[in-house]
Amino acid sequence: MSGIEGKVAVVTGGASGIGFAIATEFVDRGASVVIADLNQESVDKAVAEIGSKCSGFAADVSSSADMDSLYKEVMARHGRLDAVVANAGIGDHGALGTITEEQFDRTFNTNVKGVLFTVQSALPFLTEGSTIVLIGSTASIQPPRGMSLYGGAKAAVRNFARTWIQDLKGSGIRINVVSPGAVDTESLRSALGQALGEDKVAAAVKSMGEDNPVGRIADPLEIARAVAFLSSDESSFITGVELFADGGLAQV
Ligand SMILES: NC(=O)c1ccc[n+]([C@@H]2O[C@H](COP(=O)([O-])OP(=O)(O)OC[C@H]3O[C@@H](n4cnc5c(N)ncnc54)[C@H](O)[C@@H]3O)[C@@H](O)[C@H]2O)c1
Repeated sequence: MSGIEGKVAVVTGGASGIGFAIATEFVDRGASVVIADLNQESVDKAVAEIGSKCSGFAADVSSSADMDSLYKEVMARHGRLDAVVANAGIGDHGALGTITEEQFDRTFNTNVKGVLFTVQSALPFLTEGSTIVLIGSTASIQPPRGMSLYGGAKAAVRNFARTWIQDLKGSGIRINVVSPGAVDTESLRSALGQALGEDKVAAAVKSMGEDNPVGRIADPLEIARAVAFLSSDESSFITGVELFADGGLAQV
């Protein structure tokens, strides 16, 4: 028994990166997954790669109406919902003194408002034993220089979990946060490529990994496994934690 076999899960931002790895791992462990992401074409491409136990829905997490439509559709397709993974998120840079209102709105709309409505719209359909995993970041406690918007947003996500487990006391619904350090995704490599030039990407990835005790950055699958654990019955007495999947970076 994998602990998530037979469950129905929603993964936001599931068309790429960590969300794609989570959806793939859940399906590999016998769950059915609905991925939600911004763009229909990228959703369709991801669904085709993950296979028949995965379906998709184009939605913007920062729209409560989109989230309501998403769960309505999940119930129409599967008749139940067991696990929610609020993964969709974006990074942004800007030192204090340079932050624009537009940057603030974009970062907080996706990373904070989006997480709130991903969870709140799911609540009517979640029953005892259901799980919610929010994807945070080591930036919740160790925001890099110039990333106050992202760090502030991820700190908010972490505190959502602390509060919501009290709001949902007695419901049997568990909520946890998985906070990765740097993860080797296409979006990370393309951001490094844009900032440093393509020829410097491999060295930058290696050097980012050298900052943590394990000595390398994560494969997305390693984050997916942590999420699968917290979404499974094997973690039945764990709620409200922030699990750092970061090679020890935030612990030293
Ligand atoms: N990659 C890392 O190094 C790293 C480290 C720590 C935390 N994280 C967190 O992990 C999560 C996933 O990041 P990733 O690296 O896989 O990023 P990614 O850019 O590869 O994937 C994010 C996905 O979310 C989707 N998305 C963005 N805004 C959305 C919205 N408003 N509605 C629906 N979907 C939306 C994107 O289209 C994309 O498919 C994020 O919450 C991020 O903050 C990533």
